[in-house]
Amino acid sequence: MVSYRFLEFLTASLLASPGAAFVVPSSKQSSSLKAVAKKDSYAVTLLPGDGIGPEITAATKQVVQALATRCNFRIEWKEALIGGAAIDAKNDPFPQESLEQCLASDSVLLACIGGYKWDKNPRELRPETGLLKMRKEMGLFANLRPAKVLPQLIDASTLKREIVEGVDVMVVRELTGDVYFGTPKGIDIVNGQRVGYNNMIYSESEIDRIARVAGDVASKRGGKLCSVDKANVLDVSQLWRDVVTDVITKDFPDVQLSHMYVDNAAMQLIRWPKQFDTIVCGNIFGDILSDEASMLVGSLGMLPSASIGESGPGVFEPCHGSAPDIAGQDKANPLAMILSAAMMLQYDLDRPEEAALLEKAVEAALDAGVRTPDLKQENDGCKVVGCAEMGEIVAKLVAEIDVDIKV
Ligand code: IPM
Ligand code: MG
Repeated sequence: MVSYRFLEFLTASLLASPGAAFVVPSSKQSSSLKAVAKKDSYAVTLLPGDGIGPEITAATKQVVQALATRCNFRIEWKEALIGGAAIDAKNDPFPQESLEQCLASDSVLLACIGGYKWDKNPRELRPETGLLKMRKEMGLFANLRPAKVLPQLIDASTLKREIVEGVDVMVVRELTGDVYFGTPKGIDIVNGQRVGYNNMIYSESEIDRIARVAGDVASKRGGKLCSVDKANVLDVSQLWRDVVTDVITKDFPDVQLSHMYVDNAAMQLIRWPKQFDTIVCGNIFGDILSDEASMLVGSLGMLPSASIGESGPGVFEPCHGSAPDIAGQDKANPLAMILSAAMMLQYDLDRPEEAALLEKAVEAALDAGVRTPDLKQENDGCKVVGCAEMGEIVAKLVAEIDVDIKV
């Protein structure tokens, strides 16, 4: 189990400094993390969101219920609103009651948000704004996105077998800073024309704490950490590089650190992905590189993620979007959300063995030759199944699969 919770982190509470054009973090304070101890019963908030969200949520819930029954623990599920669904019901993409409910839970499972219907709304009434508000207000600064190629899906990748076979990359993405949240921002009229701007900004303490998570993750994986930036052009990236170097060389001496410019990293991920073990990067670079990494594993429909903070519940969600084009047609792939539930069991609920069982059941379903449409290859001999059937198959395997598990 990754022990990020047992590390000491520096707290960066964001304070507006009067007169300053942007928001800078306050001075550093240390805080320690507390794990949710293993329990018999957990409160989990479900955020089904939009598009295919309700379908993949139903499948995931069924699978996790089967797991809980087999392994003798209980989950009390409670749904809450986020995204377009919350805009329609409450005129707010992440209402206060959703935030409070998430914070009062042991963990949060999120499906996906967004859709054509809300695309033209003003920014404060867009589904994405709800997601960003949730990340910020829950302090979820670290986003772990593992891209591990499963042998069953090698041919689903658009890349050659010898390039993707054995790929196992973890992208550690900073999630509450960068150009996503920087100020000033806006669209103004300057000299008679519109000018749009955002601020790419990182403070030392924000870089320090994500570097520590990345150092910890890398030390528990292959021991190699590649920090991605654009330090040849951007000042913010120069600071990123300096702070990451300090943290890793001083406090993670066994981790082998390298640096790469983001344009090169995007190219190297496709050219020879096996050179990477753990990647750490800022918010926008991580957004882009993690989508790219998903194509190594064959489908964005396979990529889970964990968003965690210094304390409190994490949020576990698939990396894919809400796929409004196939919503309500039982064509969605629920596996990324099911694998996100496995990350929840590992990181939030202190049940690493159950997490491993869930991952095994997903692989067993693929071994059994069933594929959702996104994974289906011509002449692979596999049977196409819908979202609901995939959920049923994985749930059945979770209940019956023969694994040596101590619970
Ligand atoms: C992601 C998504 C989000 C992001 C969007 C929906 C705001 O692309 O989680 O990667 O940009 O972070
Ligand atoms: Mg993205």
